[in-house]
Amino acid sequence: MERPGVSRRALGALALSGAAVGLSGCEGAGDTDLNPKSRQFPKDFVWGVATAAFQTEGSQTADGRGPSVWDVFEKVPGRIKDGSDATVATDSYRRFQDDVDLIAGAGLNAYRFSISWSRILPTGEGPVNAAGLDHYSRLVDALLAKGVTPYATLFHWDLPQGLQAKGGWANRDTAQRLADYAGAVVARLGDRLKNYIILNEAAVHTVFGHVLGEHAPGLKDAALLGAVTHHMNLGQGLAIQALRAARSDLAVGTTMALQPCRPAGGPLAFWNRLASDGLDQIWNLSWLDPLFKGAYPKAMEEPLKGVLRDGDLKITRQAVDFLGVNYYAPAYVRLDLSAPSRIAAAPAPGGAEQDAFGRHVDPSGLFEVLNRVRREYGAPKMFVTENGCSDPFGSGPAILDDTFRIKYLRRHLQAVLAAREAGCDVRGYFEWTLIDNFEWDLGYTSKFGLSAMEAASGRRIPKASYAWFKALAESGVLPSAP
Ligand code: FCB
Repeated sequence: MERPGVSRRALGALALSGAAVGLSGCEGAGDTDLNPKSRQFPKDFVWGVATAAFQTEGSQTADGRGPSVWDVFEKVPGRIKDGSDATVATDSYRRFQDDVDLIAGAGLNAYRFSISWSRILPTGEGPVNAAGLDHYSRLVDALLAKGVTPYATLFHWDLPQGLQAKGGWANRDTAQRLADYAGAVVARLGDRLKNYIILNEAAVHTVFGHVLGEHAPGLKDAALLGAVTHHMNLGQGLAIQALRAARSDLAVGTTMALQPCRPAGGPLAFWNRLASDGLDQIWNLSWLDPLFKGAYPKAMEEPLKGVLRDGDLKITRQAVDFLGVNYYAPAYVRLDLSAPSRIAAAPAPGGAEQDAFGRHVDPSGLFEVLNRVRREYGAPKMFVTENGCSDPFGSGPAILDDTFRIKYLRRHLQAVLAAREAGCDVRGYFEWTLIDNFEWDLGYTSKFGLSAMEAASGRRIPKASYAWFKALAESGVLPSAP
């Protein structure tokens, strides 16, 4: 019924059946531009791009790297939309210097990349693979040499297959393995790598990887929800402790996919609101609350039976130096009695601008999630650690004159400025992403890059948005058009 990208990103998606049947549209969100008073970002604002190891590196067997769950998943016929894989991707393991030049060439002062766990610990545990760490050591040095500050994500969905074979995140031991891995990284890189993001969008990995089966490890088992969620939260807490124990000069945070959940209206409005609240608890609060409050929302009570142990919530609750917020679009939600979760995607409000995935382009959602974190979670320092849009859907060539992307970025950056004016402590913005890459289950059909890549030569080709972003990062002034 929907293209795969819609189901993931619109997420309404805990149960997808019937989401396209004619329903009353959702409340709220008419046109949603924010109008900040000033268009000037502060001088010390962090400007960066974000990437992930599996989506970019290729070289899947180089220097002793072990397989991850995504190596296994991408080979299962029918799992990746265009039948492609990430064995080459943007070839960034070999061409990392090209990437660094591209980043520095855009005047950016930060780069968010992820470390591949199975390069460091090929089976997820046991002896450390020094050659894997050497690669990231070279990358960090190359960035620092150009004045670009590295921000490393430790887990961007590529769990070592060796750990999956032992139950993956459903196995409580995996939490401790994450902490051990964090310890190995900081022991080698901590003298130069100071910024750490423990998890990337754990909600996506939990729901799309374990409940819907659209992502690795490809499980479709709603009964895993509690264990997977909690063990990631626990692992995050343990990993933060491990980093803090190793060094006192780090900035440690984590990144969440925060989405405002908006219920459909109409005669079932009351019930739709319940469904929307349920999704909000599972998608947003199940990650925010354990970290900032040492608690879980009510909807998790049942799934956590037999999983949560005494003392765990003291570990999940940690002081972080910042929260990373990834934002693409709001979720529109309705009740669906035929779905096991009773939750389904609803159509966005009529007339709303949509992107190539059919998602509502809605900068007010970004403003909303930033303000929610400010109000309800003690106004932490925040970075927008991902935001961006894809080329119009399809497997055609990249669109180099990507004015739609420029417009998307400009409108969302207005929301960032407005959020700062409202008191949100947003210190930086990482655009997703540097180069069109392997977009998970969508393969190469979905292109989010500021640059394209010529497949045969690996040459990076900047798009119009690259020059636009460069001008912004260099001046700190957000233009008012296009
Ligand atoms: C986010 C993921 C990132 C990429 C973008 C488009 O949900 O964190 O890896 O897929 O979406």
